[in-house]
Amino acid sequence: MKSKVESAINEQIRREEFSSRLYLSMAIWCECNGFPGAAAFLYRQSDEERMHQLKLVHYVNDRGGKAVLMALEQPEGTYNSLLDVFQKVMHHEEYITSSINDLYGVTLEEKDYTTGNFLQWYITEQIEEESTMRTILDKISLVGTDKAGMFHIDKELDAMTAAAAPIPAV
Ligand code: FEO
Repeated sequence: MKSKVESAINEQIRREEFSSRLYLSMAIWCECNGFPGAAAFLYRQSDEERMHQLKLVHYVNDRGGKAVLMALEQPEGTYNSLLDVFQKVMHHEEYITSSINDLYGVTLEEKDYTTGNFLQWYITEQIEEESTMRTILDKISLVGTDKAGMFHIDKELDAMTAAAAPIPAV
């Protein structure tokens, strides 16, 4: 594997690991602030990000490179509201989408089409994640500060998490 591709994947490994930590931090805030459904959703999302990280780790190692773990910054632990949490989730997912696109760009520059092909899974995954987060964010924005509406959304997030497919082992 070319070193430029290997380094770019390792940077993505760091970003996916940070995503997992960020969503864990958000889940903790939700759990401590009366949103058990949102907490369940974000705990699961944290596990998904860990799976995204691990999939990249195995890929680098399987292709003769070496996955390297880096230092992670401390994720934000305090949020103003559930709206604030999901606005930040949305913003973070958009950032991850653009970083996956940049990584794909590196594989094209380096003519590493095998890795480019592998990254298609992440490109599709980002479309799905952005769409899910946008739907949740739209609903939260719609209810504003209405407590009954917020309670209903939290229940919905709980049901959504319970119905979600198990996270595949990689
Ligand atoms: Fe792995 Fe949600 O980005």
